[in-house]
Amino acid sequence: MKTFQGKVAVITGAASGIGRGLAEHCVKEGMKVVLADIEEQALLQVSQELTAQGAQTLAIPTDVSQAAEVETLARKAFETYSEVHLLFNNAGVGAGKTAWESTLADWEWVLGVNLWGVIHGIHFFVPRMLEQRAESHIVNTSSVAGLTSGPGLSVYKASKHAVVSLSETLYHELTLRNASIGVSVLCPGYVKTRIQDSQRNRPVRLQNAPVENAPGETKSSPQEEAGRQFILQAIQRGESPQHLAATVFEAIREKRFYIYPQTFKTGIQTRMEDILGQRNPTLLLPH
Ligand SMILES: NC(=O)c1ccc[n+]([C@@H]2O[C@H](COP(=O)([O-])OP(=O)(O)OC[C@H]3O[C@@H](n4cnc5c(N)ncnc54)[C@H](O)[C@@H]3O)[C@@H](O)[C@H]2O)c1
Repeated sequence: MKTFQGKVAVITGAASGIGRGLAEHCVKEGMKVVLADIEEQALLQVSQELTAQGAQTLAIPTDVSQAAEVETLARKAFETYSEVHLLFNNAGVGAGKTAWESTLADWEWVLGVNLWGVIHGIHFFVPRMLEQRAESHIVNTSSVAGLTSGPGLSVYKASKHAVVSLSETLYHELTLRNASIGVSVLCPGYVKTRIQDSQRNRPVRLQNAPVENAPGETKSSPQEEAGRQFILQAIQRGESPQHLAATVFEAIREKRFYIYPQTFKTGIQTRMEDILGQRNPTLLLPH
């Protein structure tokens, strides 16, 4: 897609961070925006701010982990505008410790939002987008964590690797059908958002019970702790969502599938070379 003026974008996780940055950029390009998020107050606030700038907005409170809610989002978007030209499956949360210490509630919550959210977006939007005449593009938000390997955040990483694979498969399938739907997978590095405060939207049903010394839980190593602290600070100092949104639009214009920061090339390359060389995973700690 090369032109955006007057077209329609649907953005999940639009009330904060990268989703909000994408919504603002869509408005700058003259698009109408359908904003979806689980956090209703913040969603309405963003919607009002964009409307005040002259944008046409539709805010639909949506929990992307729930099929029925994403179905409603798709139905309302198509009832209102007949076509959707850009779909950003972006909502996401971060949690999880080591692969064995993460709780089943961590797995259910994070996979529910990060993976099932994208599955629901594809399931309910793609059939409708295939029927419309106008060309369109889907951007699924993964992470550099979906292209690399390393210790920690096991649940988050598993969800993001799955989103890369799902997006690649979708790309091939749509290409084989000659569909006029482009696909990109967005793999950000460190972006200054509220991702570290993801727990704010965790459903009560999936909260962790306050357990001390759960079975198998051991003290994290100084290296793990240093890695955690590094990531916290890197996000604080991270790229702005507005800057990232501009990069995403360049990629859509160029029909580029992989969107990731060049500064993470070493990590990606090392993992690929490990696989090709049948080498065990190289440990690259964030620094
Ligand atoms: N910030 C980073 O450094 C970074 C890096 C790589 C990938 N990402 C990815 O970017 C995406 C956006 O995250 P962000 O960094 O902007 O964080 P953020 O917390 O600022 O924004 C995430 C938004 O998603 C919403 N959300 C959470 N659960 C939801 C649900 N069940 N249904 C609908 N909306 C829900 C939140 O309310 C919030 O508005 C996520 O998929 C995240 O994994 C972020």
